[in-house]
Amino acid sequence: MSAIPSYAADIYTDEAIVEPYEHYRALRELGPVVRLLAQDVIVLGRYADVKAALSAPDLFCSGRGVGMNDVINTFGAGNTLMSDGAIHDRLRTALAHRLTPRALRPTRDTIQQAADDLVESLVTRGSFDAVSDLARALPLSIVPDLVGWPEDGREHLLDWAGATFDFLGPMNGRAQQAVPLVQAMMEFATRTADERAVLPCSAAAEMFAAVDRGELEQSAATALILDYIAPSLDTTISAIGSAIWLFARHPDQWDMLRARPELLANAFNEVIRLESPIRGFSRVLTAADTVGGHDLPANSRVLLLFASANRDERRWHEPDRFDITRDAGGHVGFGYGLHGCAGQGLARLEAQAVLRALLTHVERFEVGQPTRALNNVIRALASLPVNVVPATSSVRPATP
Ligand code: HEM
Repeated sequence: MSAIPSYAADIYTDEAIVEPYEHYRALRELGPVVRLLAQDVIVLGRYADVKAALSAPDLFCSGRGVGMNDVINTFGAGNTLMSDGAIHDRLRTALAHRLTPRALRPTRDTIQQAADDLVESLVTRGSFDAVSDLARALPLSIVPDLVGWPEDGREHLLDWAGATFDFLGPMNGRAQQAVPLVQAMMEFATRTADERAVLPCSAAAEMFAAVDRGELEQSAATALILDYIAPSLDTTISAIGSAIWLFARHPDQWDMLRARPELLANAFNEVIRLESPIRGFSRVLTAADTVGGHDLPANSRVLLLFASANRDERRWHEPDRFDITRDAGGHVGFGYGLHGCAGQGLARLEAQAVLRALLTHVERFEVGQPTRALNNVIRALASLPVNVVPATSSVRPATP
């Protein structure tokens, strides 16, 4: 059996965060299983191996953490993302039923109306920032209301959520800087839980009622609130920002979507495939296993690079091309299987509402110089100046 190839470059430097795709290509070329020397961890970058690992949660477990450092893996263990088996089932069931497409149906019109109002006012202005003015607006107003997060403290949510993703990376400077912010978020959530300061009739209020009936522990309820706040903001904001950036750089694809608005759901999948908001999470092997012809011992930590799998030339034809007509539904940008994103229905609803409103009002995007956000896990733009050419003819894809 051949030795596992090593990769010396650190994929968590500023440069590699801004331009990760050549690193991912090199990792895939080296083989199905590669050792990242900088983090001394095994990485899987090819689609088939990432998908197979996600399909075997008993072997590639999450309960020993999915981050890249021991602190987050110890501290976060036991939340929905970082749990296994019956504990995971119980946590996931406790809140996820609020986020199913069926449960979200009554909020569809409200979300679409909010997107329409926002886009109309921005198009009237003519120029705006696609991240701060557009991409952040819906996630920041909708998710906290849905979960029941109190009004005070919302001004910190973006910083806290971003810090959580930095903290999920290796313990580099970015992760260290994130620690006080993550602590502040935890303290706020604990205080909110102790004081029951959540919005009435919200998911969180329902959970605390379950705590009062003795059906759920208080600590689980607190963790659940954070489970649904922390992963819901930067991810969706990243996807909306990337969508504008991609459509601005590929006006033919925007024209195609305007001509064939029924492609909207697939176009959003293609955005997630090409610019996957979460680059990857890790797992720990519960038993020795052979992966890609290499024997890996039990307890090995393995990083699953979703963003690389989504550009694997073995799976995707011309993987770097933005093509809204390709069948992009098989991407692993929302993960896959038991831990597959519990909030993807909401993310799709928000992002598609924004794109639907833009299809009605915008013929062309002209973008200035974007700035990248530097985060250990999230791929996102920090800013993207946009001028829009308003539409002269209206296009309106149906709300599903
Ligand atoms: C475009 C937006 C989003 C992307 C790309 C995304 C991506 C992901 C990915 C890749 C995972 C799987 C992690 C793993 O297997 O290790 C995940 C899990 C999760 N996501 Fe999302 N997410 C998004 C939006 C949201 C939203 C809006 C929410 C909540 C309202 C949310 C809540 C969760 C939760 C709770 C989990 C853990 C599920 C589990 O472990 O069972 N996400 N997400």
